[in-house]
Amino acid sequence: MIRSVVRGFGTALPKRVVTNAELEKTVDTSDEWIVQRTGIRQRYIAGEGETTASLGEAAGRAALEKAGLTAADIDVIIVATSTPDNTFPATAVNIQNRLGMHHGFAFDVQAVCSGFVYAVTTADAYIRGGLAKRVLVIGAETFSRILDWTDRTTCVLFGDGAGAIVLEAQEGAGTTADRGVLTAQLRSDGAHREKLYVDGGPSTTGTVGHLRMEGREVFKHAVGMITDVIVSAFDATGFTADDVDWLVPHQANKRIIDGSARKLGIPEEKVVITVDLHGNTSAASIPLALAAAAEDGRIKQGDLVLLEAMGGGFTWGAVLLRW
Ligand code: UT7
Repeated sequence: MIRSVVRGFGTALPKRVVTNAELEKTVDTSDEWIVQRTGIRQRYIAGEGETTASLGEAAGRAALEKAGLTAADIDVIIVATSTPDNTFPATAVNIQNRLGMHHGFAFDVQAVCSGFVYAVTTADAYIRGGLAKRVLVIGAETFSRILDWTDRTTCVLFGDGAGAIVLEAQEGAGTTADRGVLTAQLRSDGAHREKLYVDGGPSTTGTVGHLRMEGREVFKHAVGMITDVIVSAFDATGFTADDVDWLVPHQANKRIIDGSARKLGIPEEKVVITVDLHGNTSAASIPLALAAAAEDGRIKQGDLVLLEAMGGGFTWGAVLLRW
């Protein structure tokens, strides 16, 4: 049985770090409020010349290097983003061109903070369906460019960055002892669209718009939706929370992460946290966290890794994979 195995990973962050203390100078907020409510201590903000495509390209190059591959070895590029460089063409084809890749195909996936989970699921389906042998999956965002910097309830929460993995077709035995993606579970419910959305777009206002969020409402749904979809991933594989070596959650808010882990019975030591360093980088947050834990040796070959996310739409999902 063909499995989609992670062969490489990489990240890219903007040069500029903005601490909570620095935000205090321009926003009616405090380091204490932000840390207490979210766990965020700093975020990276893109400067001139830094875009979703440039960050995604850098993360993609790093993942290719780690995998010992070049763009010539890749069949498909999938970019998860809600902050593309342009309305079209897709950021993925922009990155394809920047990587000097003129074969295969590239496209974007837009599922907001769940984007990376959706993109991995899509890549896995392409690989298992025989349409591709290697897929470069990138989560890249510049949310700073769609924030309303006068709205303290949202502008302190988000940051910019990119992370990437190379997924490769490898033969498995067809059991859950295989390396690679073992199950992927996706959900969405558009009834919640107005709880987290951008108030502009090409077909409505003709503008880019700004992010709007009813934070408390999103928070209220988050833990239940995340844990439900993870239970589906356990049901599909026969695993339980005890089998999970690493939970690598979407990094929106430490209280949501802690609440979900507690409800599932996954101890704190097995949860990868980067929200303190990056803020919420939407589709980039999981690959940024995954790479951090793989780079420092926490995640080792053979470990069972659980990815989960929930975000605008609402969209949510979980992927269980063996590293
Ligand atoms: O990626 C997935 C999408 N996003 C999320 O997962 C976010 C989900 N939501 C959250 O993380 C939380 O709801 C927030 C962090 C956004 C807010 O935390 P909260 O505990 O739900 O606070 P709240 O919205 O209930 O606001 C509490 C108070 C309010 O003041 P009053 O009305 O009680 O006087 C706010 O005006 O905190 C005030 N407040 C702030 N104070 C200082 C709101 N934003 C700020 C701020 N600094 N930046």
